[in-house]
Amino acid sequence: MIISSSADYRAAAQQFLPPFLFHYIDGGAYAEQTLRRNVDDFAAVALRQRVLKDMSQLDTSIELFGEKLSIPVALSPVGLTGMYRRRGEVQAARAADRHGIPFTMSSVSVCPIEEVAPKIQRPMWFQLYVLKDRGFMQNALERAQAAGCTTLVFTVDMPVPGARYRDAHSGMSGPNAPLRRYWQAVTHPRWAVDVGLLGRPHDLGNISAYRGSPTGLADYMGYLSANFDPSISWKDLEWIRAFWKGPMVIKGILDPEDAKDAVRFGADGIIVSNHGGRQLDGVLSSARALPAIADAVKGQIKILADSGIRNGLDVVRAIALGADCAMIGRAYIYALAAAGEAGVKHLLELLEKEMRVAMTLTSVARVADISGDLLVREA
Ligand SMILES: Cc1cc2nc3c(=O)[nH]c(=O)nc-3n(C[C@H](O)[C@H](O)[C@H](O)COP(=O)(O)O)c2cc1C
Repeated sequence: MIISSSADYRAAAQQFLPPFLFHYIDGGAYAEQTLRRNVDDFAAVALRQRVLKDMSQLDTSIELFGEKLSIPVALSPVGLTGMYRRRGEVQAARAADRHGIPFTMSSVSVCPIEEVAPKIQRPMWFQLYVLKDRGFMQNALERAQAAGCTTLVFTVDMPVPGARYRDAHSGMSGPNAPLRRYWQAVTHPRWAVDVGLLGRPHDLGNISAYRGSPTGLADYMGYLSANFDPSISWKDLEWIRAFWKGPMVIKGILDPEDAKDAVRFGADGIIVSNHGGRQLDGVLSSARALPAIADAVKGQIKILADSGIRNGLDVVRAIALGADCAMIGRAYIYALAAAGEAGVKHLLELLEKEMRVAMTLTSVARVADISGDLLVREA
């Protein structure tokens, strides 16, 4: 299969993965309106082509939270990454590290923090959900800090899980799910060998480390649905702010008023995100939410954005719409499932090339010069 874009990686991932895992990654909440809009709204942003300005010296790097990033991109936290490729968190983190960008580990990863952190040079970012089990939260924060994680990504758009219709159809949940998953594994032998046999233990590494006993896929669903906490409010985050020594970033902001609250709270950054269209279907896409949020808080707090970013043009678009840095979820997960660490590294190279073309043809030499001026204003 010829791979020249993230769309190709998606097709390759679909061939490799058992359907319950492909659709778990690929799908969104309810009728998937927001999932589609995320991608379509970025794609619809028209850039102003400018020419003949000597673009021979381009610099795609940025500084963020005291770190240098080779491109303004970080990998978003994705749960169960080790189920998509053998020890997937390690492979994705290595690829990000080699490209000079941060990897964010999900709290519901397969590999535990301690397995991944020593395999990379740069400090890992760590993501935490608000869970009823505050003992787990405290334990995870302590372990993340001990392993040298710097930036904490605190996800706040999951006080309740969104319903994902595809999961019931694919075998991720629904009737006879274990039997259907078993059959799908048997009929996808490359995955069965790489992950099923050689990728063990299929654990929720961080939760098992806390509980002191192994946890599997059924525990994942059970633990999460029993532990989401709808009572959460800004006040509950204060002990975390006090406890965590490094930058704290709030993930799941879509409204300028919440962005202002994050500034008042003392967060270092926000991630404009609708969880990749996996939570409340019908909310704004990140592309459409960004400009008003940037108007409200730009310069007071770092603005990161994910949900719908599939290529280097989208990275430039996100920054032109007001972000300081982009993040990607599915784009790198498809590449990881298709080709492991090498796939993620190749995807990041593609993103960088696409960014360079976009910067050259919009005549901006540095990321700091990407602004709303790049956008075509419709009359
Ligand atoms: C399979 C999958 C699992 C995810 N797990 C998490 C998670 O554990 N924690 C979290 O904060 N976000 C999680 N997300 C959301 C991503 O961090 C990110 O917001 C989203 O993927 C961005 O949209 P994109 O996939 O269009 O790039 C997950 C997304 C996917 C696709």
